Amino acid sequence: MLKRFHKLSKIKLFGVDNDFKKINKLKQGISPIDSLKINYFKKNKDKISSNYDILELVDVIIICLPTPLKNKKKPDLQYLEKCYKELNKINLKNKIVILESTVYPGVTRNFSKKILTNNSGYIIGSNIFFGYSPERENPGDKNFSYKKTPKVISGYTSKCLKLVKIIYDCITKKSFSCKTLEEAETSKLLENLYRSINVGLVNEFKLICQKLDINVHNVIESAATKNFGFQKFIPGPGLGGHCIPIDPYYLSWISKKKGYDPLLLKSAAKINNSMPQIITKKILSYYKKKKPNILIFGISYKKNVDDDRESPAFEFIKIFRNKKIKFDYVDPYFKEIKKGRNISLNKKSINFNKKNLKHYDCALILTDHDKFNYYTIRNSFKKIFDTRGVFFRKKIFSNNIIQV
Ligand SMILES: NC(=O)c1ccc[n+]([C@@H]2O[C@H](COP(=O)([O-])OP(=O)(O)OC[C@H]3O[C@@H](n4cnc5c(N)ncnc54)[C@H](O)[C@@H]3O)[C@@H](O)[C@H]2O)c1
Repeated sequence: MLKRFHKLSKIKLFGVDNDFKKINKLKQGISPIDSLKINYFKKNKDKISSNYDILELVDVIIICLPTPLKNKKKPDLQYLEKCYKELNKINLKNKIVILESTVYPGVTRNFSKKILTNNSGYIIGSNIFFGYSPERENPGDKNFSYKKTPKVISGYTSKCLKLVKIIYDCITKKSFSCKTLEEAETSKLLENLYRSINVGLVNEFKLICQKLDINVHNVIESAATKNFGFQKFIPGPGLGGHCIPIDPYYLSWISKKKGYDPLLLKSAAKINNSMPQIITKKILSYYKKKKPNILIFGISYKKNVDDDRESPAFEFIKIFRNKKIKFDYVDPYFKEIKKGRNISLNKKSINFNKKNLKHYDCALILTDHDKFNYYTIRNSFKKIFDTRGVFFRKKIFSNNIIQV
């Protein structure tokens, strides 16, 4: 088995997904994530399917299914449950099953055991192999390269780990072996927790600076000149995406279950979640007589991506609706809001032209897409509320730009 994987030079890739639209796009040679050309499945149409039977043909199964939250911020493992049930139906002898989804510690081991209970002929590390290796992606980041990004890996047994290492050494330049599956699972949570807490820190720090009438961005730039012990984080409208706002709850849930209710983790989430309310209040303080008609710039949770999962923009929209504040939005990545997102919005992105921009009392920058012309924005509105500090970074200064 090991010898066979050592010889692995050209990987044949298969894909399973239950979203037919995605499968069809891939068969046409289009990436469903960023609409770029991707020819592999166009040339290999038989290698992508919604049918798990296709997995009979593979040696390695890498699972990267969603791990969202249920009500009351509880981990929702239904996608993994369904997947492992399907896997149970196929012959997994001599196959390696690696989980990449973000999970709380213990999930990989528990799911692996579930497969074993139904199949008495399996012996882990001998004729079936399990591993965990968290996904590391940075959507929209042109400098990001998965090849250069070290991969954290782990195995159920030492032999499992050896195989997992051989596989990822074919894909990335560097891997780091964890001693246990649980250490690898928890390391992913620490990575995302680190971001969540530091974003919470700068968001709170911004509020303090505002009270002190100090420019938070100048302070951050100044602190960031320290070449050790400081990493720059930038305040924003709240947290978005499917990782940073969600993963800390995976850790707090398991921690609370084991008898420790975390403090810092929850405080950071509370601060980040409260940003849309606080920013709206600040905007309204500029309009005593009449509520403003607002044009929102950006629906995506981060710049230059067409991903609106958990985007703070939806929180702003909910608040605006409750307060009967008129608004429209502009986002080149969202001509309209996709159905099934956390809000049903009967609006389309307005066309970004000078004539259209004149209808609004102010602009609210929620996502700092590069496609926006910030000079046109500066020249078109009486007031611009910038939640991202994008005008500061672009060195566009003007009295009508207000950092919020
Ligand atoms: N995307 C990232 O940047 C990133 C980074 C780090 C970690 N993660 C983690 O990776 C996991 C997946 O995230 P993602 O962004 O790739 O999610 P995603 O929603 O983009 O992709 C998940 C895919 O699974 C498919 N799917 C759902 N149920 C299925 C089923 N029963 N059988 C087959 N396919 C099914 C969906 O159609 C979808 O295409 C999550 O745990 C996430 O936290 C993602």
